[in-house]
Amino acid sequence: MTQTPLPPPLHDALVQLLGPSGVLTNPADTEAFCVDWRALYHGKCAAVLRPANTAECAQAVALCHAHNVPMVPQGGNTSMVGGATPDSSGLAVVISTTRMNQIHSIDHADLTMTVDAGVTLKAAQDAASAQGLLLPLSISSEGSADIGGILATNAGGNNTVRYGNARELALGLEAVLPDGSVLDLMRKLRKDNTGYALRQLLVGSEGTLGLITQAVIQLQPAPRSRETALCAVENPQGALNLFAAFRKQDPSAIHAFEFMSGTSMALVNNLIEGASLPLEAPAPAYVLVELASPRADDSLRSLMEDILGSALEEGLVTDAVLAESESQRQSLWMIREEHAEAQKRAGASVKNDVSVPLAAIPEFIADATKACEALIPGIRVAPFGHIGDGNIHFNLVQPEGADPAAFLAQDHAMMDTVAAIVRKLGGSFSAEHGVGQLKTYMMPSWRGGAELQTMRQIKAAIDPQNLMNPGKVLPPA
Ligand code: MLT
Ligand code: ZN
Repeated sequence: MTQTPLPPPLHDALVQLLGPSGVLTNPADTEAFCVDWRALYHGKCAAVLRPANTAECAQAVALCHAHNVPMVPQGGNTSMVGGATPDSSGLAVVISTTRMNQIHSIDHADLTMTVDAGVTLKAAQDAASAQGLLLPLSISSEGSADIGGILATNAGGNNTVRYGNARELALGLEAVLPDGSVLDLMRKLRKDNTGYALRQLLVGSEGTLGLITQAVIQLQPAPRSRETALCAVENPQGALNLFAAFRKQDPSAIHAFEFMSGTSMALVNNLIEGASLPLEAPAPAYVLVELASPRADDSLRSLMEDILGSALEEGLVTDAVLAESESQRQSLWMIREEHAEAQKRAGASVKNDVSVPLAAIPEFIADATKACEALIPGIRVAPFGHIGDGNIHFNLVQPEGADPAAFLAQDHAMMDTVAAIVRKLGGSFSAEHGVGQLKTYMMPSWRGGAELQTMRQIKAAIDPQNLMNPGKVLPPA
């Protein structure tokens, strides 16, 4: 017996289309799709639909559209801003991309991969790597996050400093629009000036304009040499000075340049099994720098040693460790990638995924730290992030022993305190995580006037019934 509030004719048509295992309605089966990774949002849904290909997805969307049923696209469910979680009405269906999981082809002439939305980023990276190529996008959640999700949110991550965000990698795209029609933009062209850039409109729209079903991703030749180092620095300015030193010598060699504060590193050391700091002593701040090159010689090693040698002499870097093997490299990256998990284990936290111009980062971190410590005594200010592209995760962890709910009740006060400083410095209130439902309230003051009005007009033109991921990105009118 069905437990869904879906109209019976719609339910039956969906079961006929997707099969019984493609339509989940039992709350025990749907629950996991209704809670976000951070467990900030606990929604409900009428069903979870699991189409296996574009045709099934398009027909399912057309059926929901005909019955006026809201739809929430969902990939790996790793959103940091509640972007893939249904609201609490229980009226929406979640459309999960997990069964659309084929890697169709890898093209060595154009250096592209044609892939379904539900392939995890890690699986796509591994497939590229098995053919001597690199999919140059890396994020901490890559084992679960999928291609559709990273494009829908224009994910950034560790290699943006070298290759750009997901937007720069998407040569082609296919999406199902809210009425079930299929937008086929699966071209693999570097030059194609033929009208409005619809592909770019879909990328970063967070599922509010359509559901991405396939993509053509730009690849790169795989690096044949890499050098990775963890460095201790005195402060964020020291990290930026070190970045400038690398960039002056060879900007194209910098593959990643990540910042970690002493507070966030301490959380990783204390809360993640197997993550211990491979340096003599804890420091106020750290940088993880990775250089990579398609050349197989040892020129990167010399570059790394020269720059770090001078930085150590000048006192810019106070200690450093260079990875001597692939497994050491992975251990250094594990320390960085476990930051989000460590903060989750430390209790409630408020994430401020912001960007400011590089030169403003030290002032931003100093001023925002002071303001947050004044707002909530005992708060643990634990910034880290992609300092090479100006993106700081200025995350705030509850005071030790505090009540998590009471801390989270002040989330807007913390976010607004940080955002005011970001705004003064010419930054953005969301660098790579998107708006989702967490930050819709900030849109009118940050993106008001003609900018928000144009977004609303685009949404109304493509989704006049407001069925595709309602409540995300755009605040209620
Ligand atoms: C990361 O870079 O690890 C995530 O985007 C950050 C976060 O947890 O805020
Ligand atoms: Zn990040």
